[in-house]
Amino acid sequence: MYCKKIKLQDFRNIENEEIEFSDGINVIFGENAQGKTNILEGIYLFARGKSFRAFKDKELVKFDKSCAYAIMDFEKNGINNNGEMTLGVEIPKYQNKRFYRNKVKASKTSEIIGEFRAVLFCPSHLGIIKDSPSVRRRFLDVAISQLRPIYIKMMNQYNHVVENRNAILKMDPKERVGFIDMLDVYSQELAYLCADIAIMREEYIKKLDSWVKVFFEEMTKGKEKPKITYENNAEEKDFEKRELLKNKYFELLKNNLEREFKYGATLYGIHKDDLKIELNGKDARFYSSQGQQRSLALAMKMAEGEISREYSGEYPVFLFDDVLSELDDTRKQFILSSIEKRQVIITACDKSGFDKTKVANFIEIKNGQKIENCKDNIEENSQQSDYSEDIEKIEDIEDIEDIDNIGNIDDED
Ligand SMILES: Nc1ncnc2c1ncn2[C@@H]1O[C@H](COP(=O)(O)OP(=O)(O)O)[C@@H](O)[C@H]1O
Ligand SMILES: [Mg+2]
Repeated sequence: MYCKKIKLQDFRNIENEEIEFSDGINVIFGENAQGKTNILEGIYLFARGKSFRAFKDKELVKFDKSCAYAIMDFEKNGINNNGEMTLGVEIPKYQNKRFYRNKVKASKTSEIIGEFRAVLFCPSHLGIIKDSPSVRRRFLDVAISQLRPIYIKMMNQYNHVVENRNAILKMDPKERVGFIDMLDVYSQELAYLCADIAIMREEYIKKLDSWVKVFFEEMTKGKEKPKITYENNAEEKDFEKRELLKNKYFELLKNNLEREFKYGATLYGIHKDDLKIELNGKDARFYSSQGQQRSLALAMKMAEGEISREYSGEYPVFLFDDVLSELDDTRKQFILSSIEKRQVIITACDKSGFDKTKVANFIEIKNGQKIENCKDNIEENSQQSDYSEDIEKIEDIEDIEDIDNIGNIDDED
């Protein structure tokens, strides 16, 4: 998969830019706060369906404007898809955003997830090892939903049932009496969803574990042994048996009601899951050095790319936001040599760190503009936008932002 170009209009500090990329290593460079990450944010919007850093979509709209646009052309050559595709998004400041696939409006955000796949690695991912379980669950959710869109649907359904169930658990005991049967129905529903989601997570984690082992072997010349396992409160090892797993979750929910009434919340289920990450048999959260944690995070991101390739037949686009400067030379060279034949878009402060790397394309960004085209842009910007050709104006907005809910009921354990 390879991103050919992205057009951004009134997106963050970018007024009107078209940026072309090569199939290889692309380096976006420039000083701080110029708009480098904003470009990656625009690209990744098409992989995840939402920004990786904005709390609300309206943050993406240029301060003095009412609507932001992003349109991306990319090449897909996987098992079932050949050829070029265009994805677009229109983000009005005060309404829900709307995605377009080859100029046709998608009825839901989740409809376009999986069309374009990217692996993002940014400084906050270095905390994937030591931060709270919700960060690791988010890693899983984002990775799995790009590969299997049904996962998004299941997670949304799950969140919805938990919300309804919590509403009953929070009720005053007298009021609750009339809802006990309902609670049982929700517990059944939740147990099935837990089983299905846990099976998908288990499958993903197994693959993740084996790929992380491969990368670690190379990175440390076999000196360090990582292990990633799935921690879930059903404590089930046999994920082949859906019915068994469902019964375990149901028992947990049924037998701990008193405790749940006390807390007014659902205390069991896949929203409590975690990844256990070990290095040389010790929990990496507590016993690994910062360098080892960085290597683990890096290996997990590389593994994410390999699993994506296994599913679809081609590599996703790798987006590295400011992470290379944080890595030492050995890890940096390892990463650059591992990704040579894929498309990678990297942001960095300057070009100097890439002397030994075969970079296909350097793009300098200043004040939200591509440097080479500064003059052209001034002329272009004084004219009306030509986005009406790419995206027809939206009349009705009723999108349910389903992917946005993923992880909403995460708790910080
Ligand atoms: N909605 C917005 N409208 C206009 N400018 C914005 C908006 N959101 C962020 N910015 C600006 O974008 C710049 C940061 O861009 P970013 O891509 O994070 O920088 P960097 O080049 O360091 O990666 C800052 O100058 C910030 O003020
Ligand atoms: Mg940045």
